[in-house]
Amino acid sequence: MSPTIKPVTGARFSRIHGVGGYRPTRVIPNSEVLNWIDSSDEWIRTRSGIAERRWAGPEETVAEMSVQAAGKAIAMAGIRPEQIGGVIVATVSHLKQTPAIATEIAQRLGCGTAPAFDISAACAGFGYGLGLADGMVRGGSAEYVLVIGVERLSDLTDVTDRSTAFIFGDGAGAAVVGPSETPGIGKVVWGSDGSQAEVISQTQAWDTAFAKPDAVNGAGEETKWPALRMEGQTVFRWAVYDMAKVAEQALEAAGITADQLGAFIPHQANMRIIDAMVKKLDLPPNVPVARDIAETGNTSAASIPLAMERMLERGEAKSGDLALIIGFGAGLVYAAAVVTLP
Ligand SMILES: CC(C)(COP(=O)(O)OP(=O)(O)OC[C@H]1O[C@@H](n2cnc3c(N)ncnc32)[C@H](O)[C@@H]1OP(=O)(O)O)[C@@H](O)C(=O)NCCC(=O)NCCS
Repeated sequence: MSPTIKPVTGARFSRIHGVGGYRPTRVIPNSEVLNWIDSSDEWIRTRSGIAERRWAGPEETVAEMSVQAAGKAIAMAGIRPEQIGGVIVATVSHLKQTPAIATEIAQRLGCGTAPAFDISAACAGFGYGLGLADGMVRGGSAEYVLVIGVERLSDLTDVTDRSTAFIFGDGAGAAVVGPSETPGIGKVVWGSDGSQAEVISQTQAWDTAFAKPDAVNGAGEETKWPALRMEGQTVFRWAVYDMAKVAEQALEAAGITADQLGAFIPHQANMRIIDAMVKKLDLPPNVPVARDIAETGNTSAASIPLAMERMLERGEAKSGDLALIIGFGAGLVYAAAVVTLP
């Protein structure tokens, strides 16, 4: 008889046990953005809903912000760092490609030899991480998994680009996912559309940017630091029309109706996108909606856990409430799920 592999058993269900965030100390109000681009405070507020954003200083590295945010999430979860059996870091703005920043973060947090790796799923990064963590906990490869969304988008912002200079911010948000008696993370509805890869992307690959000038760019041409560029209107339309459908699918998969939600926490991309989604979802007016973008800007992978922490801190939503989360962005990629708030 051929030998059989011993089956692995995991937790029956998973949930978020703790959430934490880190916001850089330097506040950039719209008035400062006006030093870089021809715009107005009123235009930025009405077109994006952003009043200010935070930009990280030299000490507020991707690792440092992650450690701060994760420390809070672990404390809230009431577990010891060594109980964490996986560290997933979602980021598109850690500028050193190898090794993954997750290993340094795991080591600094005291997570022992937990597997640690980075994922690149832009503004859907937290949802992708949550989907992986849920699978790891239920699949039996880890008891607790730390999911961190962290960005220093200021490093990839061209401050002379009128379509992006006012949007992006820096920060980190983290969640501890672990076992649960009842389902605390609904089916993650996620996907990608590579046919729209160019809609939000880095202006040039690093090898092009830093190739010897005479080899690629022609002698004498200045090396230009890569930045994020986007086709604002295309992203806007995709987010409003296609993502509202994805949010509905996540609700349906979880067997939850909009009126049963205690919070709607969409990716903080643009206030007008958030408002349009609320309308399309026909969200009852008593469901609180995360609008952290006003003070935080668009922090990509960090935006959902940062907004979640803030809603809980301010009492806009409470532990045990059901929240619909949805992230979407460069790839294009998306991920939505109904979760129980920690
Ligand atoms: C970026 C965004 C705010 C731009 O708004 P928009 O309404 O699409 O703006 P447009 O590019 O069509 O430009 C409209 C007008 O504003 C002007 N404009 C563009 N940028 C401006 C700025 N920063 N300040 C002032 N005016 C600006 C344009 O010149 C244009 O003027 P015109 O009508 O006289 O020609 C919007 O497209 C958006 O939010 N898209 C989604 C982006 C997003 O969420 N990305 C993150 C995804 S994860």
